[in-house]
Amino acid sequence: METIILDANNSEHITLCAQAIKNGELVAIPTETVYGLAANALDETAVANIFSTKGRQADNPLIVHICSVLDVTALVSSVSPFFEPLAKKFWPGPLTMVMRKSSEIPDNVSAGLDSVALRMPNHPAALALIKASGCPIAAPSANLSGSPSPTKAIHVKNDIDGKIPFILDGGSCEVGLESTVLDLSCEVPAILRPGGITIEEIRSVVGDVLVADEKSTGKPRSPGMKYRHYAPKTPLVAIAGSAKVTAEYIRDNIDINTVAIMFDDYSFEHSNVILYGNSYDHTAQAANLFDALRQADSMGVLKIFIQMPNADGIGLAVTNRIKKASGNNIVGLDNLT
Ligand code: TXA
Ligand code: MG
Repeated sequence: METIILDANNSEHITLCAQAIKNGELVAIPTETVYGLAANALDETAVANIFSTKGRQADNPLIVHICSVLDVTALVSSVSPFFEPLAKKFWPGPLTMVMRKSSEIPDNVSAGLDSVALRMPNHPAALALIKASGCPIAAPSANLSGSPSPTKAIHVKNDIDGKIPFILDGGSCEVGLESTVLDLSCEVPAILRPGGITIEEIRSVVGDVLVADEKSTGKPRSPGMKYRHYAPKTPLVAIAGSAKVTAEYIRDNIDINTVAIMFDDYSFEHSNVILYGNSYDHTAQAANLFDALRQADSMGVLKIFIQMPNADGIGLAVTNRIKKASGNNIVGLDNLT
């Protein structure tokens, strides 16, 4: 099948994509976080197609995207008391909330769990598409499983060209990494995946928040987090420490077979250096990280270095993705790490 790139600013193109969704097909769509691989969440066959197109493990559940808070009641069996204040503050936006699911949700969407993850994306084309499709939309990130999430239409094309009819091109994703996944199915809300909404922001609404331990050995509550993820094909080494010290380490160790992803304010002139934002600007780092990893991967080197930021604010999500992408291959250089 030929994959056609359509324009997210063109309402006729959105109608074409909605028609494809209604026909049980898959379409890649922009959101404010990353591009999603969308299908009718209530169509079990279309959902199964998402898993095979991405090469995704069947035990990793999908996020269901909606365009109105009114849609929530039909999709969950009980609404958490935390839901309304959180939705009021952060929807539409990069917050995914997990609650007990209703029987409307096919088992393959939730990968056999009794919960469902819901999100209202903050992107006009995504919202218009959900509305025109007339159904909730299941959408994981539109990359092949394991590789960095797509933040541009070309990233989607590079991963799954020929497997879907349409990619709706909305330019670069503003946030650049995925939504925060918050479990509201237990008494105390728990962050299962750090993302576009920070812990501090969530705490300001709900008070107590648990952060699921990445290293815990039990059954992961967010199954997706146990897999190697976001990874370029080239081995990635995260360099942690103060920006000055990590920049010095990279300058001393870079060679023709190494690409370095660095902070703008601590970089140096070198053909193998890719910039991803100032050292203190976690918002820019989040927006540029996945594109930088894909760029580095395309340069045919043997190793990628990346300067690791601190974990303040959205820096927690940036460091989480870097740790996963590197398979925890981290060089710690001083006691700031
Ligand atoms: O920003 C995003 O969330 C993007 C855009 C497209 O919306 N989507 C995304 O989907 O990142 P995906 O499939 O790449 O990641 C979904 C994460 C996985 O870690 C999955 O395990 C978790 O959400 N998840 C989904 N349903 C869940 C559930 N019922 N309980 C716990 N975790 C769940
Ligand atoms: Mg993903």
